[in-house]
Amino acid sequence: MVRLGVNIDHVATVRQARKVWYPDPVEAARLALAGGADAITVHLREDRRHIQDRDVERLRSELSCSLNLEMAAVPEIIAKAREVGPDDACLVPERREEVTTEGGLDVVGAFEMVRDTVSALKGAGILVSLFIDPVAEQIEAAKRAGADAIELHTGAYAESRSADAAARELELLKRGAELGQTLGLRVNAGHGLRYDNVLAVGRIPGLHTLNIGHSIVARAVLVGMERAVREMRELIP
Ligand code: PXP
Repeated sequence: MVRLGVNIDHVATVRQARKVWYPDPVEAARLALAGGADAITVHLREDRRHIQDRDVERLRSELSCSLNLEMAAVPEIIAKAREVGPDDACLVPERREEVTTEGGLDVVGAFEMVRDTVSALKGAGILVSLFIDPVAEQIEAAKRAGADAIELHTGAYAESRSADAAARELELLKRGAELGQTLGLRVNAGHGLRYDNVLAVGRIPGLHTLNIGHSIVARAVLVGMERAVREMRELIP
C-alpha cells in the first residue's frame, strides 16, 4: 500500500493569520494519524510563514510518528534539521515571494550544494529525499548526489487543463518513478494532489509515499464546520 504523508502546514497558516496558539499543528497531526496518516510532513520555510521551529520540535518530541521535514538547502535550516532529527528531510527549492513550492529542485544546476547538503543531513541519520520534476537528468543527478529518495513533483499533472495534458504528465511521472526505482531510489510523489486526482498517481507502481497537504486541510475545514458551529451555538445563551 502506498503510504500517506499528511502535510499540516496550512493548519499553522490559520494560526499565524492571527498569531495565536490555535489551531495547534501537533493536535492536527494527532488527528491526521488517527485518520490513517502514515507520516506527518511540515515545511519549515525560511520566512516562517506557517510552521515555526517550536512546532517541529514538538512534533518530534510529543509524537512517535514518522516525521518528514521539507526544507531549503540553506545553512540555518540544515542546522535546525540536524538538531531536531526528523526521520526524513526533503530538499525543496524555496523563493520568498512564491505562494507554494513552484518547481522541482535543480539538482543538475546546483549539484555540489545539493550533494553537500545531502551528506550533512545523512550524517545526522536523516533519510534524504529531493523534490524534483520527473526528468531523467534530475533523477540521475539525485542518485549521484547521494539521495536516498526522490519526491516527484506532481504539480504539472495536478494543474493540467485537459485530460490529454494530464495523461501526458502522468506518463512522465510513471517513467520517472520507474527510473528512480531502477536506480535504487525510494520514490515518493506530491504537490497539488486532491480527492479528484489522487487515484491515478496512487496507481503508479512502486510508489512509497504520497505527501498531501492543502486539499486535506481545506476539506477538514468543511467537514468540521457543522460541529464547530454547533459547539459555539451551545455556548451562547
Ligand atoms: N511535497 C512537497 C515537496 C511540497 O513542497 C508540498 C507543499 O508544501 C507538498 C508535497 C504538498 O503539496 P499540497 O499542499 O499541494 O498537497
